[in-house]
Amino acid sequence: MSEAKRVIVTGATGLIGKRLCARLTAKGYAVVVFSRNADHARRSVPGMAEYVNWTPDARGDWGQALEGAYGVVHLAGAPIFGKRWDAAYKAQIRDSRIISTRIMVDAMEAAPVRPKVFICGSAVGYYGDTGNTEVNESSPPGDDFLAQVCVVWEQEARRAETLGIRTVLLRTGIVLDTKEGALPQLVVPFRLFVGGPILPGTQWLPWIHIDDEVGLIVLALEDARVSGPLNATAPAPQTNYDFTRTLGKVIGTPSWLPVPGFSLKILLGELADRLVEGQRAMPQKALELGYQFQFPTAEQALRDLIK
Ligand SMILES: NC(=O)c1ccc[n+]([C@@H]2O[C@H](COP(=O)([O-])OP(=O)(O)OC[C@H]3O[C@@H](n4cnc5c(N)ncnc54)[C@H](OP(=O)(O)O)[C@@H]3O)[C@@H](O)[C@H]2O)c1
Repeated sequence: MSEAKRVIVTGATGLIGKRLCARLTAKGYAVVVFSRNADHARRSVPGMAEYVNWTPDARGDWGQALEGAYGVVHLAGAPIFGKRWDAAYKAQIRDSRIISTRIMVDAMEAAPVRPKVFICGSAVGYYGDTGNTEVNESSPPGDDFLAQVCVVWEQEARRAETLGIRTVLLRTGIVLDTKEGALPQLVVPFRLFVGGPILPGTQWLPWIHIDDEVGLIVLALEDARVSGPLNATAPAPQTNYDFTRTLGKVIGTPSWLPVPGFSLKILLGELADRLVEGQRAMPQKALELGYQFQFPTAEQALRDLIK
């Protein structure tokens, strides 16, 4: 029997990472979890092939685990949501992505046998606020803070291409999952009959069901045609207003209480700007490659996730 392909996953203890590790293991890969705390990772993502302590801000012995690995999926980064953005936290958001990517590429360069494929996290925030304009992988970047983080993050990742490693820049939208991420927080006000759109409501929401997020990462890992930017978003993005109406319909409560952007600003600081803006992002490459979305519409995704 041939030996299982080793795939390194950073950020494996996160929302996407946990589900990806389970899927890869089920497919017969030997998943090597890179975590800042391997003991904690062993408990939160059980059953993986190996657990390695890594330091996202400095080279270390962990680099040896890259030797001969088939692929690296780099998902680590300080959470974007859930904390007020001040200067120190913005630096953490930026450095935890850019420096960790630089260090990972350095380590791959030093490996005597380099991985074949590098999938590096990025985000649809790359495009900035796109208003009503549809964007795909060829569209230019925006100029706000998150867009500029994504630009530099992707530049660091692209150094892997020059090492002969197939490199995919995973521009993820808002991942919908039952337990973690944005959806549980969106559902709570609806259950209390106070749910509603975030004004102006016309901003686009580039969502994706967690199963399709994982499906696209597996596609990127296995299909040699995939390289460069890949939008990980559903083919039917909705405006915030329409998405909220769909959510109310699925939960069975009306969506009537709009949340004004200025009140979010008081609560969240600059992060609020990201909620009143959005991206009308289309997964053009995935569609061209023939990827079949399991949950192409928001109603299908929400009916699956909200039981
Ligand atoms: N979820 C979304 O809706 C979404 C949307 C767009 C883009 N993305 C991007 O996709 C990637 C994965 O997202 P996710 O939602 O799965 O993330 P997550 O749940 O926030 O988990 C990310 C993981 O990164 C590690 N981490 C946390 N803080 C860190 C820091 N300061 N420095 C280095 N590592 C740190 C942690 O792993 P350890 O503690 O085990 O090291 C954590 O489990 C992220 O880069 C995120 O920006 C996600």
